[in-house]
Amino acid sequence: MNQLDKIIDTVQQDEALNLCSNNQNTKKLYLESYGCQMNFSDSEIVASILSKEGFETTNNFEQSDLILLNTCSIREKAELTVRTRLRSFNKLKKKNPKLMIGMLGCMAERMKTSLLEEEKLVDIVVGPDAYRDLPKLIKEAETGQKSINVLLSREETYADINPVRIGDNGISAFISIMRGCDNMCSFCVVPFTRGRERSRNPLSIVAEARDLFSNGYKEVTLLGQNVDSYRWNISKKGEVLDPNIPTTNFAQLLELVALVSPNLRVRFSTSHPKDMTDEAITVMSKHENICDYIHLPVQSGNSAVLKRMNRGYTREWYLERIRSIRNIIPDCAISTDIITGFSEETKEEHLDTISLIKEVKFDYAYMFFYSERPKTLAERKFKDDVPLQVKKERLYEVIEIQRKQAFMINKKSIGKTFQVLIEGTSKKSSEMFCGRNSKNAMIVFPKEKYLIGQYVNVLIEDCTTGTLKGRVIKS
Ligand code: 5AD
Ligand code: SF4
Repeated sequence: MNQLDKIIDTVQQDEALNLCSNNQNTKKLYLESYGCQMNFSDSEIVASILSKEGFETTNNFEQSDLILLNTCSIREKAELTVRTRLRSFNKLKKKNPKLMIGMLGCMAERMKTSLLEEEKLVDIVVGPDAYRDLPKLIKEAETGQKSINVLLSREETYADINPVRIGDNGISAFISIMRGCDNMCSFCVVPFTRGRERSRNPLSIVAEARDLFSNGYKEVTLLGQNVDSYRWNISKKGEVLDPNIPTTNFAQLLELVALVSPNLRVRFSTSHPKDMTDEAITVMSKHENICDYIHLPVQSGNSAVLKRMNRGYTREWYLERIRSIRNIIPDCAISTDIITGFSEETKEEHLDTISLIKEVKFDYAYMFFYSERPKTLAERKFKDDVPLQVKKERLYEVIEIQRKQAFMINKKSIGKTFQVLIEGTSKKSSEMFCGRNSKNAMIVFPKEKYLIGQYVNVLIEDCTTGTLKGRVIKS
């Protein structure tokens, strides 16, 4: 692997995490999740459904009866990572033929029966809307048949399922507020793997937030592929569906969750530049406990590329949304997603992305080179004609500029004091805690007498590109 690939690899991680709790029980489930936060949230739903069937989660796959991989299809590399992991269970399966292996999530949905044909180890294939069917599918698989359900739904939100909070810190939790996506960005496989957009009943969302808070959680993140198009009892055209039920849009939902308690921090992801309203930004500014942080993926800084991407906005529109955020919340942190080397992207178009990054000065960016996905609009309409090496060089350029800018932003925090929610022990030192401020910056500081879950005020004394360092000045 050359230097360029190494740098890109550290940024474009397709990480896996396993969700587990340890308990002695009869049936053991090993569940590993890849990709977006939505997948991690879904795994908690899966664990909940299977706990009713007597499955206990374990972090030891060697002792499990069922291995489930909750997969991601967003880029080719994400799928390759999962396939490599899957094949690593080969020996285990030979030793224990009763061991069942299931593939969940986007790869299951995208590949359907071909996943069973291509990967002989797999017994069960289940798409994101079919998790309620898992108990039946497992029973089928126990009889030696291969089982599959990849039906997509227009209604399923799993609203009534209480997720099993495993693998988290007992402090911050995800709440899924909607599923699917109707946007059809031309590069994206998600509308095909997660189906049509549907919102979850606001009452069940608020109830989940209340429940979490009463169980000691201090932070919730409202999740959706495009949270700004959350709507309850409102048609796509904006009409009221049932006059006897109150309507709820995203700004109103955000406010309802913020009102659960001033001590419950509220975050959300992902916003869409074409739909993000001033109403939502104003609600953020009104409530101290809604974090001053917006993830607003731009993808490209060039309007012609954005058009090919079918993003529904121009460079100027995006910059106007940034101005609006900074006008209403002057110190709001903003992060973004960027794709380099999209179909037919010219050097000039790429330079527009660079100039946009320089103009906006993002606090953080998730950066990727374009990976053409089967059946997407882009695959059908455009040529994936930017050579891989050029895609990578453009990505490297973007990474370097973003790194320098993030470091400058972090340096400006030195001498400032932030309220930090203590999330756990720092990965680099057992003597230090880590936690984030409202702006989502990661902050490390000596543990002293403080406790996980506590809010403390930290004076920033030093920084790196990714982390602020300081000490508590008052709790
Ligand atoms: N290639 C590269 N990056 C992609 N993303 C989505 N689809 C692709 C693709 N085909 C990125 C986008 C999106 C993020 C979740 O993943 O930037 O916002
Ligand atoms: Fe994919 Fe676009 Fe939907 Fe995001 S908004 S999930 S990028 S189609």
